[in-house]
Amino acid sequence: MRTLLSRLIHSTPSISRLNTTAVCGRNLCTDSNKVDEPFKTEEAETVNVPPPPTEKLLVLGGNGFVGSHICREALERGLSVASISRSGRSSLHDSWAGNVTWYKGNILSTDSLKEALNGVTAVISCVGGFGSNSYMYKINGTANINAIRAASDQGVKRFVYISAADFGVVNYLLQGYYQGKKAAETELLSKFPYGGVILRPGFIYGTRSVGSMKLPLGVIGSPLETVLQVAKPLNQIPLIGPLLTPPVNVTAVAKVAVRAATDPVFPPGIIDVYGIQRYSQHKSN
Ligand SMILES: NC(=O)c1ccc[n+]([C@@H]2O[C@H](COP(=O)([O-])OP(=O)(O)OC[C@H]3O[C@@H](n4cnc5c(N)ncnc54)[C@H](OP(=O)(O)O)[C@@H]3O)[C@@H](O)[C@H]2O)c1
Repeated sequence: MRTLLSRLIHSTPSISRLNTTAVCGRNLCTDSNKVDEPFKTEEAETVNVPPPPTEKLLVLGGNGFVGSHICREALERGLSVASISRSGRSSLHDSWAGNVTWYKGNILSTDSLKEALNGVTAVISCVGGFGSNSYMYKINGTANINAIRAASDQGVKRFVYISAADFGVVNYLLQGYYQGKKAAETELLSKFPYGGVILRPGFIYGTRSVGSMKLPLGVIGSPLETVLQVAKPLNQIPLIGPLLTPPVNVTAVAKVAVRAATDPVFPPGIIDVYGIQRYSQHKSN
C-alpha cells in the first residue's frame, strides 16, 4: 500500500505538493508511525487556485515629470508597473523607482514595444515633447500612434493618453505639437472605443526633477489654479478664453490617469482639465 501511495505521490505533481498527513486522512500517518490505513482519495484532492488577477501597467515615458508621478501612484495602488523610454531607468533615487521594471527603447519602433507590452493589461502614455514642428508631430503623434496600434494588437484592454488642453492661438505657434496630439487622439478613439481615455490638462505643476535639482512648480501653479478656477466662465471668450485654462497638480493627473487605466467603468473619451480636477477628488476604491 505504501509503495503504491509513494508511487502515486511522486508521479502526480498536484498530489506531490501535499504532505502525507493529509493524504492519510483523519488518522495521523507519518513516516515514523507507518499505519496501513486505506487512503481516501477525496481527502487527497488538491484545488489548483489560480493567483489573484494582477493588473500590469506599462507607462510610456515613466521616467519623465508626469510619468514618474504616475508610476508612483500605480505602485501605491498595488499594480505591477513597467516603463519604457529612450533613456530607460529613472535617474530619481526615490525608493519606489526600484519597484518599476524599466525598459529602454524608442516607441517609434514597434520592436522596442513588443517585450515591454508582454502581459500588459493597461497602458498610459506620457510621451510628448517640443522642438521643430516635424519633431513635435513625430513625438506627440507618430510615436503614440505606433504605441496605440501595438497595444491594440497585443490585446491591451485600456489605454490612457496624456494629451493637452486646447490653448487657442498658441496652437498656431505650436502646430506640430497640437496636430500630433490630435492625430494620436483620433487613433486612440478608433482603436480603443471602450477603453481609451484622453486627458487634456493645461499647465501641469508639481515638483519637477531636473538633474539633482527639484523645481517646486507648485509655487506658481497652485495659486494660479485657485484664481483661474474662479474665472472658469471666462474660458468661453474667443481667443483669450483658452489661455485662462487653470493649471492642474501633477498628483491629480496621476491619480486620474491610473484610475482611468484600471477602472473598467471609467468612461472612455476626452477629459478636460475640469474633469481631471473633478475625478481626482473622487474617493479611490
Ligand atoms: N508638463 C506639462 O505642463 C504638460 C501639460 C500638458 C500636457 N503635457 C503632456 O504630458 C505628457 C508628459 O509631459 P511631461 O511634462 O512629463 O514631459 P517629459 O518630462 O518631457 O516626459 C516625456 C517622456 O517621454 C519619453 N519619450 C520621449 N520620446 C520618446 C520616445 N520616442 N520613445 C520613448 N519614450 C520617449 C521621455 O523619456 P526619454 O527622453 O528618456 O525618452 C520622457 O520620459 C506629454 O505628452 C506632454 O505633452 C504636459
